[in-house]
Amino acid sequence: MNLRDYVASIPNYPTEGVIFRDISPLMGNGEAYREATQAIVEFAKEKQVDMIVGPEARGFIIGCPVAYELGIGFAPARKKGKLPRETIEVSYGLEYGKDVLTLHKDAIKPGQRVLICDDLLATGGTIAATTKLVEELGGVVVGCAFLIELNDLHGRDKIKDYDILALMDY
Ligand code: PRP
Ligand code: ADE
Repeated sequence: MNLRDYVASIPNYPTEGVIFRDISPLMGNGEAYREATQAIVEFAKEKQVDMIVGPEARGFIIGCPVAYELGIGFAPARKKGKLPRETIEVSYGLEYGKDVLTLHKDAIKPGQRVLICDDLLATGGTIAATTKLVEELGGVVVGCAFLIELNDLHGRDKIKDYDILALMDY
């Protein structure tokens, strides 16, 4: 099965000049969703991961089934104001804006091996912010996994110290 057949490309969304890569057809197809999840699960097994972290919102869609399949926990990195208990936070830039990500202070235990999962690597701002949050809590980021990498935005350069899995690139 070719997973690229399940990514929709929308020109000039959400702003002029951006081609939005929409993974909802992939999620909407059980076989494609499972194949993508399994590929990340295999990567996570090699890295002996203890915990999955995913940034809001599409990181939840990718990270949660991986955590479930491995029988390990998932911690959501959420946009500011969404987590109810004590948090740490970091601000970051996006392909089309700026935001603040937060993580509960007790989400990761020092020394835990963490895989960060998201749908897409663009500028790398989101994922670099997520690695900072995990490391501030003493977690060890053993990899970052994505469905899609956008080559032109060179997000990989922002996370070059980490092992990266990207199932597709554009
Ligand atoms: C998108 C996407 C990634 C991020 C990638 O999320 O899901 O998390 O942008 O861009 P970057 O590499 O330039 O940081 P977005 O912030 O749009 O939020 P959403 O998942 O809630 O739609
Ligand atoms: N997040 C950042 N850039 C994106 C893009 N081009 N398509 C989908 N999600 C994105």
